[in-house]
Amino acid sequence: MLTLRQLFLANNAQTTDFPLLLEFERAHGVHMYDAEGRAYLDLISGIGVSNIGHSHPDVINVIKQQLDKYMHLMVYGEYVQAPQVRFAEKLASLLPETLSSVYFTNSGTEAIEGALKLAKRFTGRHQLIACHHSYHGSTQGALSIMGNEDYKQAYRPLLPGIQFIHFNVVDDLKAITRQTAAVVIETVQGEAGIRVPDHAYMQALRKHCDETGTLLILDENQTAFGRTGSLFAFEQYGIVPDILVLGKALGGGMPLGAFVASGDIMGALKNNPILGHITTFGGHPVCCAGGLASLEVLLRDELITQVASKEALFKQLLVHPAIKQVRGKGLMLAVELADFKINKKIIDRCIANGIITDWFLHCSNSMRIAPPLIITHDEIRKACAVILEAINYYTT
Ligand SMILES: Cc1ncc(COP(=O)(O)O)c(C=O)c1O
Repeated sequence: MLTLRQLFLANNAQTTDFPLLLEFERAHGVHMYDAEGRAYLDLISGIGVSNIGHSHPDVINVIKQQLDKYMHLMVYGEYVQAPQVRFAEKLASLLPETLSSVYFTNSGTEAIEGALKLAKRFTGRHQLIACHHSYHGSTQGALSIMGNEDYKQAYRPLLPGIQFIHFNVVDDLKAITRQTAAVVIETVQGEAGIRVPDHAYMQALRKHCDETGTLLILDENQTAFGRTGSLFAFEQYGIVPDILVLGKALGGGMPLGAFVASGDIMGALKNNPILGHITTFGGHPVCCAGGLASLEVLLRDELITQVASKEALFKQLLVHPAIKQVRGKGLMLAVELADFKINKKIIDRCIANGIITDWFLHCSNSMRIAPPLIITHDEIRKACAVILEAINYYTT
């Protein structure tokens, strides 16, 4: 009989020739467990998803209750479905007043597609500005605004009219003109290897958009829900986007994305033609129920207030001659090493020793640290000891 691993390789489409091939049976809190019951500490939250930890019992309960009521009823936007309504109401109550209209999607990349279409419709313009080294997803609109030619050239032609600027370079903002529909930018760049912008840059970005009637789209797929030390990362810059894009931790472990705007802007999708964005499963009631429950846990347990001290502990412990820099904000950190070769060896040794980490799509010399926000100080100490042991093993 074939093993699960053999079947995975035979029948599940592969994304690379070198998948990790780890096999987990269950996950709880910061840990994932293999068939032998061995615990692995998830230092990357399934790439920015499990902010309140895996399989939180409160989230599971709410999901089970919703399953007993109903699953899919109708394509998005027609029926009044309580989980969608309650979740949108909660998000709007936590966001600035202008961000009051939530369009739920299936994923982060679909939310980006919706946001790009909305910006075109609302402004009547089609030119877009994005950043070098950005990542916004894998569908063709998102790929068009990805700032890395290596991953996109094989798929051209993509969307026309896209210009790339350097992240955090004020001078480049001159590219924003009255022809620009929107600037799309990650509040903190993730796959670029965690790049944190300056306060003055974000202020200047908002100003240039205002002066030219350009919409500012902030992609907070990775940065929202406490990851950088505030509920949404943009709160730390004293600006408000015109369109906010959410995903990943939004669903509390269930697949869910959203783009959020004012009612006025969002209204552009419903006329001439109607149905400007259609999604069958977007805002699935079970996902919305899970997402709302997850957000309530995040707030109730005041997890965000603990982020700064946990960031400080990582930065205090991860000091080594082979570590060039620990970059980032909150629990969204990148440990920079000499090159990919050494980084990969260290990552593999960490995984072998029970710590799950990886590198970044556009920054292969850096190791990702983005654990569930519930990670304890003791668990941080243990994780850092494993990382430092692996660094010592290969560099001294
Ligand atoms: C900043 C950012 N935007 C968008 C996406 C796409 O999200 P999804 O994979 O849910 O389509 C990602 C995924 O990694 C991301 O990091």
